Amino acid sequence: MGKLSDEIIIRGKKIKNRIVMPPMMCFSFKGDNGGMYGEQYVDHYTRRAKGGTGLIIVQATSAQGAAKQLDVWSDEQMKPLEKIAQNCHNYGAAVMMQLSYGDININELSVEEIHTMQLDCIAAASRAKQAGFDGVEYHFAHGYTLCRFLDPTSNTRTDSYGGILENRVRFLTEILPQIRVDVGEEFIVSIRMGGNIPDVAGAIEVAKVLEETGIDLLHVSFGMKEPNNTVPDDFICSTIAFNGSEIKKHVNIPVIAVSEIFTAEQARFLVENEYVDFVAIGRGIFADENWANKVLANESIQQCRNCGGITRKCLWFIDHTKCPAKKSS
Ligand SMILES: Cc1cc2nc3c(=O)[nH]c(=O)nc-3n(C[C@H](O)[C@H](O)[C@H](O)COP(=O)(O)O)c2cc1C
Ligand code: SF4
Repeated sequence: MGKLSDEIIIRGKKIKNRIVMPPMMCFSFKGDNGGMYGEQYVDHYTRRAKGGTGLIIVQATSAQGAAKQLDVWSDEQMKPLEKIAQNCHNYGAAVMMQLSYGDININELSVEEIHTMQLDCIAAASRAKQAGFDGVEYHFAHGYTLCRFLDPTSNTRTDSYGGILENRVRFLTEILPQIRVDVGEEFIVSIRMGGNIPDVAGAIEVAKVLEETGIDLLHVSFGMKEPNNTVPDDFICSTIAFNGSEIKKHVNIPVIAVSEIFTAEQARFLVENEYVDFVAIGRGIFADENWANKVLANESIQQCRNCGGITRKCLWFIDHTKCPAKKSS
């Protein structure tokens, strides 16, 4: 039986427990000197590393411009990123960066434009490694640009990037060998994917191909839309988390489950029954930066109020200072 406190090593990187902070944008934070990142972010991630989180995945960061080292990939912006990575390591957390590519209609992209995006995705991984990160997670979930390639209902391309599964994963399969050459053997390359692209059976097929391609870790969320498949009555977590457990049955690489895992009981249920390898606690770790240390020590946590219920209207989308959990902590 696995335990939340179990260490795991992926690509030579030690992850000290099974508790992950998933990527979450801090919309009301300010970067330094007009850039995206800065001291406010350094403090935010450092606190969650200090709070015992095993793996921190820094929020969606656009890979756009990475090949030319523009914007967030400039030398100036590398400084706060280096600090985030260093501080996480100082508190024993592994740290990865989520790489996204905006919200583009992929069906209208020329092959040349796809190649430019691919070059940025390759370069961003190297830049993340240079900043001291342990790995990257490509954001192929939540209906954004990269997600659209994978799902046959959104990808209507008729060239070699659309149609059969082999084509829908081509964006990745073409770049992974170069990424591995550039980042070396000791660097985690993960994919955040939907567990419903367009359904669980489709997602399992994608996951198997990703494993064959050499991906090290899968983080299963939702795809183009929220899943609507049924979940057994005795499964005490969300449909999204259930779909992660369905994918785990078909791959040998570690799987992270996410979504509405608020309590220690739910986290233990998922890991101890080996439904998945890791639990990602999103809003829970926003609400209580010490979530991991407290749960591992059987102490009570500052509960996330699940503001907005099924609409997930977390106030961190607008103004983190209004988070009711923070006010009473
Ligand atoms: C404020 C906010 C920002 C988010 N930003 C991202 C993001 O950058 N990338 C991503 O893949 N998911 C993002 N998410 C989704 C979370 O990673 C997570 O999947 C979701 O909150 C469900 O987990 P939870 O119920 O534990 O919060 C965000 C969620 C919230 C609330
Ligand atoms: S704003 Fe509400 S949903 Fe978001 S972290 Fe705080 S308590 Fe949880």
